[in-house]
Amino acid sequence: MVENDQDIDEIFQRKIFTRPFLLIGEGSNMLFTKDFDGTVIKLATKGIEIINEDDEHVYVRAAGGEDWSDFVRFTIEHELYGAENLIGIPGLVGSCPVQNIGAYGSEVKDIIYQVEGYYLPDGEPFVLYNEECHFAYRDSIFKNELKNRCWITEVVFKLKKEKHFQLNYKQLADNLAPFGADLTLEKVAETVLNIRNSKLPDITKVGCAGSFFKNPVVSEAKFAELSAKFDQLVHYPAPNGIKLAAGQLIESCGWKDIRRGDVSVYPTQALVIVNWGNAKGSEVVAYYQDIIQSVQEKYGILIEPEVRIIA
Ligand code: EPU
Repeated sequence: MVENDQDIDEIFQRKIFTRPFLLIGEGSNMLFTKDFDGTVIKLATKGIEIINEDDEHVYVRAAGGEDWSDFVRFTIEHELYGAENLIGIPGLVGSCPVQNIGAYGSEVKDIIYQVEGYYLPDGEPFVLYNEECHFAYRDSIFKNELKNRCWITEVVFKLKKEKHFQLNYKQLADNLAPFGADLTLEKVAETVLNIRNSKLPDITKVGCAGSFFKNPVVSEAKFAELSAKFDQLVHYPAPNGIKLAAGQLIESCGWKDIRRGDVSVYPTQALVIVNWGNAKGSEVVAYYQDIIQSVQEKYGILIEPEVRIIA
């Protein structure tokens, strides 16, 4: 457990990163298939402060060990716009850039100014500005070139001062329409939490890691071929093609009716795999691999896990 700068120094002095290590936030996006044989390092540093502002923006620095939703609440209390749709996502501030967390029409890349930390194993400090993080849908440099090569310890966010809401997720827009010009950050956050709770499990009660798979992106040609064969495929434009809803594809392969021991998909969202009690990691792995195969057979699409699998 790393609580302050002194603990960070000590980790480098003890050369922990020259042996097997695992950096975790809340562990809320990981599937362990066995005990990890090495040092598990959990960041628990605290601190959120406004560090700068200009006419339009306020810059807020948050320690990597801060709970993500506590950070979102800080922005709401200070009437800063941009983080509110992301309330309720499990995990820590330090993890949010890694997979560019997103929900209800927002992605954290839209409010990240810079990411700070240390290169591994030697502890050279780094600062990466937004553009240098190569953010994309559930992706960043931290999952690619810098995977296991850096430790994120602080994130600086750039939030809007002027009232501005992101309402392109239909259900959110519909639920908030009655408020018109009286809409507030608090109301948006409350509505987001209600939508989340209606679809996603409470991770303090049931084991899961949120969406287990990424939504796949297919070419226009592939989409045309699929929509000739299958009615009502949910789809959205994406930078490199057409994004489909993996939850819909999985549901249509019948997985909402398949429970194996303590493993199943969640009844209101087939994109989420849950462990109802004592399932082993290996059972979850067998289950998710069969989901991939059935979607591949029916649609010819290879869906990829979004969860980090610790093998
Ligand atoms: N759908 C189904 N059946 C299902 C699930 C979904 O038909 O079992 C359909 C829905 O009816 C809807 C569409 O699929 O038309 C999309 O569903 P939803 O809006 O629930 O979102 P999603 O694409 O399944 C993504 C994120 C979630 C995020 C929501 C809301 C990914 C991998 N997941 O899910 O993020 O909360 O959008 O923005 O992009 C997470 O990453 O852990 C996560 C929960």
